Amino acid sequence: MKIAPSILSADFGKLREEVEMLNQSGADWIHVDVMDGRFVPNISFGFPVFEALVKYATIPLDVHLMIEEPEKYAERFVKGGAKSLSFHLEATPHSHRLLSQIRSWNCIPGLALNPQTDILSVKNLATELGLVNVMTVNPGFGGQSFIVAMYSKIQALRDLKQKQGFDFLIEIDGGVTSENASKLRESGANVLVAGNAVFKASSVSGAIAQLKTE
Ligand code: DX5
Ligand code: ZN
Repeated sequence: MKIAPSILSADFGKLREEVEMLNQSGADWIHVDVMDGRFVPNISFGFPVFEALVKYATIPLDVHLMIEEPEKYAERFVKGGAKSLSFHLEATPHSHRLLSQIRSWNCIPGLALNPQTDILSVKNLATELGLVNVMTVNPGFGGQSFIVAMYSKIQALRDLKQKQGFDFLIEIDGGVTSENASKLRESGANVLVAGNAVFKASSVSGAIAQLKTE
């Protein structure tokens, strides 16, 4: 199980220290939430902050675009240093094209699904996919509660993957805690994104180790 702390929950007043701390924390990836105030009702940060993350991170940056028209900005994030790049199915009519472009740039192509979105489209796109980000909260904010109805969606995705022999990673994003981590693992999760569960813990490396072994 990979653990990807979400930098959205970090203290932006000391971003460099937060990234350097994550480098040493046992985290596998750093999850980078980019929000545009249009696709989601919040604005997080854009390229200047991303460039600072690239400068100090020694572990892979997993970028999650919660923006309209992701095809306009994807290449800049990939060429700027993203190791994986997810965009929302709901944000573009051209997911297939964008996924294959991301792969051609040697980056893991990821598709993110809002809670309301079913997994039917994943089947059509599966050959292009390196990762599916299953949103288990409504995107836009850290610190929300896990939507329990998402367990069956994760299990259905795991079953689709096994039956058809697809090899994308299943990433869970939103409301992950040490309490639900083991059920998420059993349901088929390969990557757990965690914002508050990591940054609000008394020990960041302890919280990451716990999420990994749950
Ligand atoms: C929500 C973001 C998540 C969020 C996770 O829109 O995509 O990555 O930062 O934060 P927690 O783990 O606190 O729910
Ligand atoms: Zn995210």
